[in-house]
Parts: sequence; structure tokens; C-alpha cells
Amino acid sequence: MAEQDRRRWDERYTDLGAPADAAVGPPSAFAGYTDVFPTAGKALDLACGQGQGAVWLARRGLQVWGVDISPVAIEQARDLAERCGVADRCRFDVVDLEPGLPPGPPVDVLVCHKFLNRRLYQPIVKRLVPGGLLAVAVLSEVDAAAGPFRAGRGQLRAAFAELHMIAAGEGQGEAWVLART
Ligand SMILES: C[S@@+](CC[C@H](N)C(=O)[O-])C[C@H]1O[C@@H](n2cnc3c(N)ncnc32)[C@H](O)[C@@H]1O
Repeated sequence: MAEQDRRRWDERYTDLGAPADAAVGPPSAFAGYTDVFPTAGKALDLACGQGQGAVWLARRGLQVWGVDISPVAIEQARDLAERCGVADRCRFDVVDLEPGLPPGPPVDVLVCHKFLNRRLYQPIVKRLVPGGLLAVAVLSEVDAAAGPFRAGRGQLRAAFAELHMIAAGEGQGEAWVLART
């Protein structure tokens, strides 16, 4: 499965080509909440894709580790960080998240945008420092057809109910949560 995923995403990112510098920005679900994100500390971006969100965090001043299963995406993310002058604050690695989170220190910000793996929810919470910021968005069944890669109504919010909710939403096929430990 992981190998199939890798190939599929590699093909997708090869077709897309290098992301434009102008595409650097907060993950779309959190565009209205940029002020909540800190400007220092460590961040982990799970399934970071081409790195637009990770490079945005690095530009804010965070030290960012982005991981993704696609070597093509990771190479594009490294190039983007280089072009944007924040390579010294970014690390990007090819990681399969199916077996779990890669080992690492606690982080101040954890972003997981448009990647669903319910088994990661508890490890994600444990990975955050006290007061750390969680930003998770996944596909949702709300206003969309049901499917194995979509969260059911209320599932995402319930998964992180123990956290202090800053904002959460669900609709138009997407669910997202912004919260602190
Ligand atoms: C919809 S994209 C989201 C990318 C990025 N977070 C964004 O918002 O633009 C889903 C990402 O999950 C990655 N992915 C899929 N399966 C994975 C796995 N098992 N481990 C790590 N990353 C995976 C893909 O390579 C892809 O970059």
C-alpha cells in the first residue's frame, strides 16, 4: 500500500511540477488564523507535500521538519525552501507515516493538512509541548460522498476533544481543528 501511495503521489507531483514561490502560505484551512501560529520554536508538518505550508512556517521564524512519503514532493519542498531563503530553518525527509510518527523531540506546532490517519491522532497530541498548537484538516463526509479517506461527521473534533479548541469547522467535504494542548 505504501509503495502504491508513493508512486501515485510521485506521479501527481511530477505532473504538477515545482510549486511557485507565490504558493507559499498557510494551509488553506487555517488561512484565517495566521496570527495564532507562533513565530519561533519547532514545527512538524506531516504529509507536507511540496512544502508550501512548511516554508510559510519557516518564514515566520519556526524550525520546521516536513515529512512525506513522496520523494518527488520532498525534493520540491527542499528546492522551495532554498529559493525562499529558509533552507537553514527547514528539514524535509521521505517518511512513510503508516507505521506511525517518526521519532523526534516535542514540537510547538504540529500541522497535518489533508492527510487522514486516525492511528496518528494520539501520538500527535503526545508530540506537542504543553500549550503547543495543533492544526489538522482532513477530507470529511459532510457535504460530500462517504469514503474511506473521509472523516465522518464530528469525528475529527471528537478525536481532539481533550484539547483547548481555538476553532473548528466542518463542511463542503472538509473538517478541520485548530487547538492547543
Ligand atoms: C492531499 S496531499 C496534502 C499535502 C499537503 N499537506 C498540502 O496540504 O498541500 C496528501 C499528502 O499525503 C502524502 N502521503 C500519502 N500517504 C502517505 C504516507 N503513508 N506517509 C506519508 N505521507 C503520505 C502524499 O504524498 C501527499 O503529499
